[in-house]
This record gives sequence, C-alpha cells and structure tokens, in this order.
Amino acid sequence: MTEEFIFGKLSDGTPVRAAKLSNKNGMCLTVLDYGATVQSLIVPNAAGKPIDVVLGYESAQEYEENDAYLGAVVGRVGNRIGGAAFSLGGKTYTLAKNDGANTLHGGTRGFDKRTWDLCCGENEIVLHRVSPDGEEGYPGNLDVQVRYALGEDNVLTIAYTATSDADTVVNLTNHSYFNLDGGGSVLNHKLTIGAERFLENDNGCLPTGKFLSVAGTPFDFREEKVIGRDICQENEQLRCGSGYDHNYVLSGGTAAILRGAESGLCMRVTTDLPGMQFYSGNFLTPRRGKGGQQIDYRYGICLETQLFPNGLQFWGFPSPILHAGEQMYSETSFAFTAE
Ligand code: BGC
Repeated sequence: MTEEFIFGKLSDGTPVRAAKLSNKNGMCLTVLDYGATVQSLIVPNAAGKPIDVVLGYESAQEYEENDAYLGAVVGRVGNRIGGAAFSLGGKTYTLAKNDGANTLHGGTRGFDKRTWDLCCGENEIVLHRVSPDGEEGYPGNLDVQVRYALGEDNVLTIAYTATSDADTVVNLTNHSYFNLDGGGSVLNHKLTIGAERFLENDNGCLPTGKFLSVAGTPFDFREEKVIGRDICQENEQLRCGSGYDHNYVLSGGTAAILRGAESGLCMRVTTDLPGMQFYSGNFLTPRRGKGGQQIDYRYGICLETQLFPNGLQFWGFPSPILHAGEQMYSETSFAFTAE
C-alpha cells in the first residue's frame, strides 16, 4: 500500500513530497523526493514493537543541510574520486574538491541535494531524474531511476537504472545509517561481512589500489562479530578511516548481516555489486534526529553497496564507465527478520 503526502518545504519554498509504502506485517518505508532519501524504515520486532531502523530528520530543511547524507542516494559517483578529476575518452573532467583534494558523493550538489520526480506503484516508490550534461562537471545527460520495492516477505529492494547520451561515469548507492535498535551507539550491534579482502585506504579514505586480506586483522567480519570489539585496536587502516570506512571486496552471496543488540532485529544485505563501503559513522557529529532523538558519533552504520571507489584509477577495479546508449542496472536487497 502506498500513500503520498507533503513532507515539508525547502528554504526556497519548494515542497518536498514523500511517499509511504507499507506491507501487511507492519513494515513501513518513507521516501522523500529530495535526495531520493529513505527518511524512515519501520520494522516491527518479534514483540510487535515498531522500530525505525534508519537515522533521519524531522524537517525538509534539515535534509537540505544534511552534511552526513542521511538516507540519501549518492551520485552521480558515490564515494571518492581521487584528485577531483578523471579522464575519459582522452578528455579530462574537473570536479569539485569537497573532501580535501578529492570529490565525495557526487560533488558540491550531488544527487542527495536534488529534487527527483516521485511516483508510486502498488508495492513500490519510483524516483526519477535527468542529471544534465555538465552537472557537477560530469559529461552526458544521465537518465536515472531508483526504485524502492517492499515485499510481504519484509525485503526492501533498491534497484538503480541509468542511461546516458554520452560516455560518463556512474556509481550509485544509498547512504542510510542503520541502527537496528532504533537508537544509541551501534558499536554493540553484531556484523558479518561476506568478504575476504578489503581495499587499503590512504589518509583521505581513498583506495590506494592495493587489496588487503582481512585475515588476522580488525577488518575480519567473516564470522559474526560485535562491531566495537576491534574498532579501537592499534591499526594503521583503522587510523586512516578513524574507524571502519573501507570498501570490502564482496565474495558473492550475502554481503552483510547486521543484528541489533536489543531489538532482536536482523538485516541481511544482498547485492549484485562487487563492493561495499562499511562506514561506522566515524564523522557523525551530535545532532537532533526524528522525534527529537539524539544522533551522535557512531549511532548508525552505512553498508553502501557499490563499485570500488576511484574505479577509473586502477586496473583490476570494476569500471564505473557507462557508455552512451548502454544501460546500467544494479540492485541491493535488505531482508529483515525478527528473532
Ligand atoms: C564515506 C565517509 C564520509 C561519509 C559522509 C561515507 O560514505 O565513506 O568517509 O565521511 O560518507 O557522511
């Protein structure tokens, strides 16, 4: 069942529309047309208590100021592009340096700060926009669609489709911060990641091109582990990310399983994408969230399925190039169970 409503207004008066999608089990997703943002995702636990498992804000204007990308779709290229420039077809494209010397999450005004067309189907919310040629420095008119579908099996699927009229680069993901207890630190959540390797980062959280084995390191989540167990260990890579802020090289199958500490809720992530940025909310500063709720350092984790960051730079990284006339498609599912 879907329902549409006006969520609020941006500072220039533009209305922000929202759509609510619910299933028979009481699971309910709210998506905004601004940033194609997941504003709320309510999942009942085994005792029937509704738990909002994503961090979010109460007002449209807070989303406008949203420096942490809460719930948004990031693009045209999510994550980082080293040196804020890339070459394609013999031409160099210069982008905004909005993260030190690099570009982060699409630039100064990425997809998270744009209003999308929103429409609803029976069990889905579909967002669409055309990112014009030259927007944030990227070539090609990019036609993008993000489809959120909620099944009666408590599976939320996010499907991304994009086409361009000129060769360009694309790497889309959703930047929801999950907290399966509905609040508090996530360091007590348990996490499994289906990856044997992760990408080494430099000090700016940019991959160096080197693949590292998780074995014997704090990055090993092949067996379920409490997130906070090793996060403070003396480790060069943890220091670079100020915690976990790394792209895992997914082995295939389940990408991740997250388990709340108190709610009994569990979330299983599957994807057709090769990488997943595990970001432990290390740069999340104190702020007010929905219903006046406190948001703070490491109160949510992002499991951002994607192509490897800075993919044009390294041989062996999956290519983010989308050729003119071709279609890019990817999907990621979040399956919820209550124990
Ligand atoms: C990045 C972090 C960044 C955060 C911004 C994450 O996807 O990996 O380094 O600080 O987004 O909210």
